[in-house]
Amino acid sequence: MANKPFNTPSSEAYDLLMHRRSVKTRDMQDPSPDREALEKILAAGMRVPDHGKLAPWRFVVLTGPERAKLGKAITDGMIAEFESSPKVAEKMSGYATQAPTLIIAVYSPNTSRPIPEWEQKLSTGAACQNMVIAATALGYGAQWLTGWASYSKYVARALNMTADEKIAGFMFFGSHSRSPTERPRPNPADHVTWGWPADAAE
Ligand SMILES: Cc1cc2nc3c(=O)[nH]c(=O)nc-3n(C[C@H](O)[C@H](O)[C@H](O)COP(=O)(O)O)c2cc1C
Repeated sequence: MANKPFNTPSSEAYDLLMHRRSVKTRDMQDPSPDREALEKILAAGMRVPDHGKLAPWRFVVLTGPERAKLGKAITDGMIAEFESSPKVAEKMSGYATQAPTLIIAVYSPNTSRPIPEWEQKLSTGAACQNMVIAATALGYGAQWLTGWASYSKYVARALNMTADEKIAGFMFFGSHSRSPTERPRPNPADHVTWGWPADAAE
């Protein structure tokens, strides 16, 4: 990184942004990104705008059999929080192993400086998206998921999270052979105002 110039224009990078798609975990398979690729993906996650340089996030990388530990926490959480039958709860454990590698992105607010939590959350989201983009650029599939388990107090406890930490995403990664198709995209015209809003105060 050190000797490379910054902000080199790259039509390839723009192309990637315009033609990137998340890959459904059911379309992911081995091989997982290896340690070197995962380190690259994580390093890209750190390179995001971050007001106050607080790095209000941490990442838990689970590959191979390690993923089953999250699966167990999910099963136990389903039983403890929803009184699910063990059979139904057991099925949910597959959430953790639905793709070769899982990086749990944990939002970990830093209160050492007066930077609003909202901004720290935005920065954490940017870190997650940078990882998705980096994985795609490296040729892997990525999908950012949440769902019940990301809000479960039981899962949070199992992961040793503090009371103010939150799961920002279960980031799944793997190889994929099928090329994703496009989905409808918001029309910029519906979400962009060029110039001062007509109905706003002058
Ligand atoms: C914070 C967050 C949580 C998400 N959670 C889920 C989820 O639980 N289930 C799901 O199907 N998609 C979820 N998504 C959406 C997918 O990550 C993704 O948007 C979708 O698969 C298609 O996106 P693409 O435009 O990147 O192809 C989530 C997205 C974000 C930003």
